[in-house]
Amino acid sequence: MSGIPHEHYTPKTGIERWLHSRLPIVGMMYTTLMIPTPKNLNWMWIWGIVLTFCLVLQIATGIVLVMHYTPTVADAFASIQHIDRNVVGGGLLHDLHANGGSLFFVAVYAHIFRGLYYGSYKAPREITWIIGILIYLAMMATAFMGYVLPWGQMSFWGATVITNLFSAIPLIGDPIVEWLWGGFAVDNPTLQRFFSLHYLLPFVIAALVAVHIWAFHTTGNSNPTGVEVRRDSIEVVKKDTVPFWPYYVVKDLYALSLILTIFAAFVWFMPDYLGHPDNYKEANPLVTPAHIVPEWYFLPFYAILRSITDDLWLMMILPFDAKLGGVLAMFGSIVVLALVPWLDTSRVRSGRYRSKWFRGWFWLLVLDFFVLTWCGAQPAEPPYSIISLVGTIYWLAYFVVILPILGLVEKPAPLPETIEADFDAHYPPKEAVAANAAATPAE
Ligand code: HEM
Repeated sequence: MSGIPHEHYTPKTGIERWLHSRLPIVGMMYTTLMIPTPKNLNWMWIWGIVLTFCLVLQIATGIVLVMHYTPTVADAFASIQHIDRNVVGGGLLHDLHANGGSLFFVAVYAHIFRGLYYGSYKAPREITWIIGILIYLAMMATAFMGYVLPWGQMSFWGATVITNLFSAIPLIGDPIVEWLWGGFAVDNPTLQRFFSLHYLLPFVIAALVAVHIWAFHTTGNSNPTGVEVRRDSIEVVKKDTVPFWPYYVVKDLYALSLILTIFAAFVWFMPDYLGHPDNYKEANPLVTPAHIVPEWYFLPFYAILRSITDDLWLMMILPFDAKLGGVLAMFGSIVVLALVPWLDTSRVRSGRYRSKWFRGWFWLLVLDFFVLTWCGAQPAEPPYSIISLVGTIYWLAYFVVILPILGLVEKPAPLPETIEADFDAHYPPKEAVAANAAATPAE
């Protein structure tokens, strides 16, 4: 594997040489663990490990839950009650899995916004970013189908509303919806296929994560300065980096333990806080809930979906209706994320050295994300629909108008020469501190 030059594993004993010549697995693990990692990574680089933990947690808890769950419309709801009440440790497993999904999305949004601020998506890390977007899409599909499995009121009505969106596609929309349902409404075949795919997709995500890691191990990690690791020789590489083990393993585990403390408090003391009361009632196709609200992590995109209404003047001149308009805006808001490596024209990678304009627009995007999340939980009527529309326009404009133009006109600050220089500026080497102290006259 190409990448940053660094030391490789050399088998020492006879048995190590025997294994290495047949299966270089120890060498591979060594290379992965000892990978040179920029020594100036800050706390925003911890989300990858949190995400990896969440994936393992979801698969492990999910596999045990499945042992007690029944994927039929007649028994699904009751089997969840059975898990919560009768299975030893079942309630905890269920709470870990349901809240684990939320932690997964907290981490992925922090990871994505980190990438957007520090320009992690810029060359040569476009593939890492695109794989990341595929992971994010797979996460959304998995979470959406998982939410249907308890077969509560929100499971049923959420699935009905969201699958119905496909009917906005001209001509083939309705057949697609029936094909997704496996019938003429969300019913037993829908539940069974969602169950099957909900079990399968996390393993697809795991494979995508392996490729994601492979990609950024090939290019090397980015870092808060956006300046690349110098690659002239192993000695020079060592000035800009530290090996992943033990330095970042310890740092990541420390951060993970803090986050898991908060997570544990959530799971133990308020496990139902993020659940919707209607989902504690069994699905009933004859009773529609007053408001159909998805899980919090879908709310920004749900707000974008509902922000396009038929009374907008734009919809009066466009050849399609607001339903398709909303679907296009929603998918468009994710497509622009995928295209950001090519939409951002800035030569400077990190937001730290870009103009204050960049930082202003970026933080407005973060605010926009929260405002859209809030709007997504409100009824689809003024003033929320108008605020959602403004939020949607800003989200799209940030990627399609602001980033391309700003990169061409802004004046960035000077970059540090090397990662080592940036690091030393923050953490002066001991000799420099000692020399400075010696040169300062005692009072
Ligand atoms: C299950 C989901 C994911 C896992 C387990 C994961 C894992 C990781 C890990 C371990 C890193 C190394 C450094 C760090 O922790 O920041 C990383 C870096 C990165 N990830 Fe992810 N990631 C996931 C999802 C995503 C998504 C959704 C995106 C973007 C859409 C993304 C984009 C990136 C980029 C661009 C980097 C390189 C960052 C840099 O070095 O500056 N990742 N990822």
